[in-house]
Amino acid sequence: MSHAERTFIVFLGPPGSGKGTQARQLTDYLGLPQISTGDLFRFHLQHATDLGRLARGYMDAGELVPDGVTIRMVEERLTHADAAAGAIFDGFPRNLAQVTALEKMLAGAGGVSLAPVLVVSDAEVLRRLGGRRVCRTCGHVYHVEFSPPQQPGVCDRDGGELYQRDDDKPETIQNRLYVYYKQTSPLVGYYFARGLLAEVDGAQPPAQVQQVLRALLADRGIATA
Ligand code: AP5
Repeated sequence: MSHAERTFIVFLGPPGSGKGTQARQLTDYLGLPQISTGDLFRFHLQHATDLGRLARGYMDAGELVPDGVTIRMVEERLTHADAAAGAIFDGFPRNLAQVTALEKMLAGAGGVSLAPVLVVSDAEVLRRLGGRRVCRTCGHVYHVEFSPPQQPGVCDRDGGELYQRDDDKPETIQNRLYVYYKQTSPLVGYYFARGLLAEVDGAQPPAQVQQVLRALLADRGIATA
């Protein structure tokens, strides 16, 4: 596939709006990898790398990890073979400096194809993040109420232990929301102005959100329905 045919999707939306859930479901459909900066940082935390040690304090406080390290990490990730045809970004870019950096990275590759923003209320964010549980082994995401595992605390897929993310505590969630409104929400206007924004009601059940996204991708000629 030539560079001009590359597809880059940028998911926007507050913490807990379902960016990861939806991006993951699109990977096979589009044949593109999901690039989640949050997941990449958590990988480094788990493996106690220098980057993980640096990121921990920011993540635990719900603040953004400094742009320099975040941008370098994404640049490196985009060199992997699986991103040859494009990527689905989840959690990046998160401020205007990261948008500018992404534009440079994608110069000559056609730029961003679509930026869906998942719209959910703050009350829903609190409900979703408070109940989120993640498998320590495979990373599959559950919700104790909305998508519970068959056996509490155990992953249906591989029997791994389910845990609650450190930054899913109520006081950290509040700050993550604040950081979203202050630093990330201006990106909604940025992509709107470029005709790339697609507003999606993220309060619907996950399968319906996915249907809407696939219809949008078909409308834009990014995928066939
Ligand atoms: P990150 O991991 O990106 O966290 P986030 O943006 O806060 O997003 P979440 O992963 O919390 O939520 P999501 O929208 O993916 O929702 P999910 O699908 O899991 O970032 C964490 C930290 O890393 C940041 O705070 C920062 O410190 C650092 N960081 C990351 N990127 C950075 C960057 N670019 N620059 C600087 N720092 C960065 O769903 C949530 C829950 O809801 C789940 O339990 C799920 O099962 C459930 N759910 C999902 N959809 C639905 C639905 N439709 N109905 C009911 N339940 C649903």
